[in-house]
Amino acid sequence: MEPTIIALTGKGGVGKTSISATIVKILTQKYPDKKILAIDADPAIGLATALGVTPKITLDDIRTEIIDSVENGDTKDAMELVSESRYKIFDAIVQRDGFAFLAIGRPEAEGCYCRINSYLKNVIEMVSSQFDYVVIDGEAGIEQINRRVMQKVTHLLLVSDASRKGMEVVKTIRDVAEEMVEFDKVGILLNRIEDSTLVKELDTGGIELLGIVPSDKNILQYDIGGKNFMELPDNTAVVVEIRKALEKFNVI
Ligand SMILES: Nc1ncnc2c1ncn2[C@@H]1O[C@H](COP(=O)(O)OP(=O)(O)O)[C@@H](O)[C@H]1O
Ligand SMILES: [Mg+2]
Repeated sequence: MEPTIIALTGKGGVGKTSISATIVKILTQKYPDKKILAIDADPAIGLATALGVTPKITLDDIRTEIIDSVENGDTKDAMELVSESRYKIFDAIVQRDGFAFLAIGRPEAEGCYCRINSYLKNVIEMVSSQFDYVVIDGEAGIEQINRRVMQKVTHLLLVSDASRKGMEVVKTIRDVAEEMVEFDKVGILLNRIEDSTLVKELDTGGIELLGIVPSDKNILQYDIGGKNFMELPDNTAVVVEIRKALEKFNVI
């Protein structure tokens, strides 16, 4: 079976990382026998912290190593080195109870090493195909996911707060995604909402509204304290609402 691949995008600071971590928690609990992969596409590796993971190397480290070998006159063909990276990626994957974790690392310099980048993308796709669920915390937006992580996702989850700017970003991402990425479903998850009655007025541009996640100081405390989101209590409103949204989105 093809994996379910959920990519989270949206303006900075709207809660993508917190929600990604919560989704990993929900999937891990609901499907203890399924293979779940969390991909951190944020150079600051925030998802790692939220999930209590310390990655030793990122995909970018592997990429840099290949480029350095080529530049230092390694006699092997660049593509030969890249093909060895197939195995190195397994060193970059951190195995946890119930899920695996991969950090992408820094975005590469513009326009360089296209063959290496596109090969690495194939490697990520190959690895992902061995999982049942893949959750991508896509810090940098859809273009970056497309260029650095993968071409096709099944569920594009747009995260926004109740601000006009947040909603504009989400609609732009959807428009760009329609041209650049393949996805089966798209939906909006509103986060950090103080008063859900006000939200009813928001124009989603025809994109399905999957749910309204309340503002919850627990989330902030977990973030500030560097606590593991896997330990968020199941009955926390944020967890309950995200679970409902995943049901509506046909993820669970
Ligand atoms: N539902 C929420 N209630 C309260 N605070 C939240 C909520 N979601 C996120 N936050 C806080 O907002 C800040 C940004 O969240 P984060 O998940 O890092 O966003 P992003 O990954 O989109 O930049 C963090 O301090 C986080 O603790
Ligand atoms: Mg983040």
